[in-house]
Amino acid sequence: MVKKNINYKFQKRIDNNIKIEPRDDMPDGYRFHLIRQISQHAHSEVIGMQPEANWITRAPSLRSKKILLAKVQDEAGHGLYLYSAAETLGASRSDLINKLHLKEAKYASIFNYPALTWSDIGAIGWLVDGAAITNQVSLQKTSYGPYSRAMIKICKEESFHQRQGFEIMIKMSQGTKEQKQMAQDSLNRFWWPSLMMFGPHDSDSTRSERAIKWKIKRESNDFLRQKFIDKTVPQADFLGLTIPDKKLKWNEKRNSYDFGEINWNEFWRVVNGGGPCNQKRINHHINAHKDGEWVRKALIKYSEKYDK
Ligand SMILES: [Fe+2]
Ligand SMILES: [Fe+2]
Repeated sequence: MVKKNINYKFQKRIDNNIKIEPRDDMPDGYRFHLIRQISQHAHSEVIGMQPEANWITRAPSLRSKKILLAKVQDEAGHGLYLYSAAETLGASRSDLINKLHLKEAKYASIFNYPALTWSDIGAIGWLVDGAAITNQVSLQKTSYGPYSRAMIKICKEESFHQRQGFEIMIKMSQGTKEQKQMAQDSLNRFWWPSLMMFGPHDSDSTRSERAIKWKIKRESNDFLRQKFIDKTVPQADFLGLTIPDKKLKWNEKRNSYDFGEINWNEFWRVVNGGGPCNQKRINHHINAHKDGEWVRKALIKYSEKYDK
C-alpha cells in the first residue's frame, strides 16, 4: 500500500513535468532503468573515442588535427558528466566499468565499425554525431534532472562535432574524383549503422513503453530515426553523394522520406558482440584502464591528504 502510494505520487510528478532529483523518492525500476541507460550512454561516449583517436596522428593538416583532438577530448568529457549522473543514482563508477569489461554492459554498436579512411572521420561526425544529437536533443527534456542537464551541455558540443564532420565531407566531395569516391564509400558504410543507432522498431523495443511513461525517453525510436533521415537526405544531396538505399523516396502525403528495411540480423549480431571491432574496443579499454591505475591511486591519496 505504501509502495503503491509512492508510485502514484511519483507518476503525478512526472505527469506534471517536475524533474526528479537525486534525493527524491523514486521506484526501484526507474532508478535501475536510468542507471542502465546513463551508463550505457557514458560507455558509448568513451568507447567512441577509439575509432576517431585512430586518426589523430594522420589528420591531413594541423587545423584538422586540432579540431579532431578537441572533439575526442569532448567525448571524454561527455563520458565524465554521464558517469557522474549515474553516480547520483547510487551506482559506483568502478562497478559500471567492470560490467563494461565483462561485456555485461552495452554501448552504441556503431563504434564497433572501423574508421578506415580520413573521410570516415567526416562520416562519423556528420552521421554518427548527427544521429546522436537527434536522440540527445529529445533527452534534454528527460525527467531525471542530472541526466537532462548533462544533455544540455553535451548537445552544444555535439553540434560542433556534427559540423566538423560535415566540413570534412564537403572538402572530400568537392575534391578530386578519388576523394569524392572516398566520401561516397564512407557514406555507404556508415549510413545503415547510423540508422541502427536509434535501436529496434518501437514494436520490438521491450523497455520503451515504460521509459516513455516515466518520461525518461521522450520520443520513440522510429520517430527519431525518421527525423534524422529527413534532415540528413538534403545534406547528402548538397554534397552530391548518393544514400545507399534504393527505396529512399520522398513521400508527399507523409511529408517524410520512405526508406528501406534495416538489416536487423546485422544489428543484433553487432549488439551481441559479433561486429568487426567489438573485442578490439573492449581490450583497448581494459588496457587503458590498467595503464591509468596509478593516476587513480594518486588522486585518492591526494584527496585523503588534502580534501578534508
Ligand atoms: Fe558525445
Ligand atoms: Fe560527439
